Amino acid sequence: MEIAVIGTGYVGLVTGAGLADFGNDVICCDIDPAKIDALNNGLIPIYEPGLDKIVERNVHEKRLRFSIDLAEAIRHCRAIFIAVGTPPKANGAADLRYVEDVARTIAQHMNGPKLVITKSTVPIGTGRLIERILDESGNGHKGSVVSNPEFLREGSAIEDFLKPDRVVIGASDKESIALMKEIYAPLHSLEIPFVVTNVESSELIKYAANGFLATKISFINEVAVMCELLGANVQDVARGMGLDSRIGPKFLQAGPGFGGSCFPKDTSAVADIARQYGYEFEIIEAVLRVNKNIKQRMVGKVVDAIGDVRGKTVAILGLAFKPETDDMRDSPTIPLIKGLQEKGAVIRAYDPGAIENSKKIFENVIYCGDAYETADGADALVIATEWNEFRALKLERIKKLLKQPLIIDLRNVYDPQRMKAEGFTYISVGRSEDIRVRERV
Ligand code: UDX
Repeated sequence: MEIAVIGTGYVGLVTGAGLADFGNDVICCDIDPAKIDALNNGLIPIYEPGLDKIVERNVHEKRLRFSIDLAEAIRHCRAIFIAVGTPPKANGAADLRYVEDVARTIAQHMNGPKLVITKSTVPIGTGRLIERILDESGNGHKGSVVSNPEFLREGSAIEDFLKPDRVVIGASDKESIALMKEIYAPLHSLEIPFVVTNVESSELIKYAANGFLATKISFINEVAVMCELLGANVQDVARGMGLDSRIGPKFLQAGPGFGGSCFPKDTSAVADIARQYGYEFEIIEAVLRVNKNIKQRMVGKVVDAIGDVRGKTVAILGLAFKPETDDMRDSPTIPLIKGLQEKGAVIRAYDPGAIENSKKIFENVIYCGDAYETADGADALVIATEWNEFRALKLERIKKLLKQPLIIDLRNVYDPQRMKAEGFTYISVGRSEDIRVRERV
């Protein structure tokens, strides 16, 4: 099918490339000529493993092209995916300005029936809003609105797109559902489950799924606090819980709190949607509070381990909100580094992908070229993001480089017994082997 994807940010680009890989003819559009120019010259503006290859392959096979001519793309294509940003407003609600602009542009250039699909995470009711815009200004042509939320994880977005757990389709007529099944035909034949429902349910599925996953993380992070207070081990507790098939083992990794482009934004948006309807979504409100407190708690963990941090140097390994991404949005390292700087610490830091983006956020951070340069002369080493290269550090070398053998591991990457045997004072999250934590209790 001929498809236009409007918005070539993270979601749009992965969606466009993935849909082309399914055999569709795709035009990815954006209003930013510099971005389209770069893409036409083979430059991918975001860091996502495998994205360059899939874009290159589909451009080469002439199923994928990039354009700033929205009007032409709208006229040419039967299906139009909206994948523009829905950034949070000051009150946490999603800003729909860009989605509405695109809907108006589609309405203006409609020259036949169009399937308009929202891929961006949009508040419940947005599908109906777009339908109204198309009805009011669509030159008498029929625009059918479908909700088809994405569940892409940064770092594994291509795999998530090509082999999703499910495809959610929210539509109100049979023809739209049939067209969506045609677009995703290869997934249908792979027997990936399709959840077909109405537009509102589909919009809510995205928020409910992300809200539930965020709840799991905040829950295990609070269990980790309990473990520290009681002398238990959060990894054993998580395993003991996760083996119950009703709970499942995933998303029970305790750490410094969740960040990224989705969980913080979507949880506060769904809380806001509930409030607009006169309801307080209490669990989600608590998840947001817990996440903020957990992030702040990490500052205390480092300070407790070092003592007074004034004038002390803290080496931070990992800046991005998770490995395999350059994304700094809501990264737990932001309150951590700012909190330590406020207390007078000097920060040295290294991240394999996120240094450029970090420079826009922090001041007075000394950026280093690798883990060893970062550790050199520091009073403590903090593992803040679990990039693979931090899982296999040459510990003997790190020990020699640090002023004192102190590691604070916020991602529970290492085995506490081993670290003790290697001569480190090792502090992690929610593990009773953490001698200092126990002493504090
Ligand atoms: C998430 C969802 O997984 C995806 O379906 C949605 O479309 C977008 O949001 P993403 O933000 O890329 O994807 O990352 P994810 O791997 O889900 O991790 C989010 C955050 O939770 C990270 O900060 C991560 O470190 C944290 N996390 C995750 C934990 O602290 N513990 C866990 O067990 C899992």
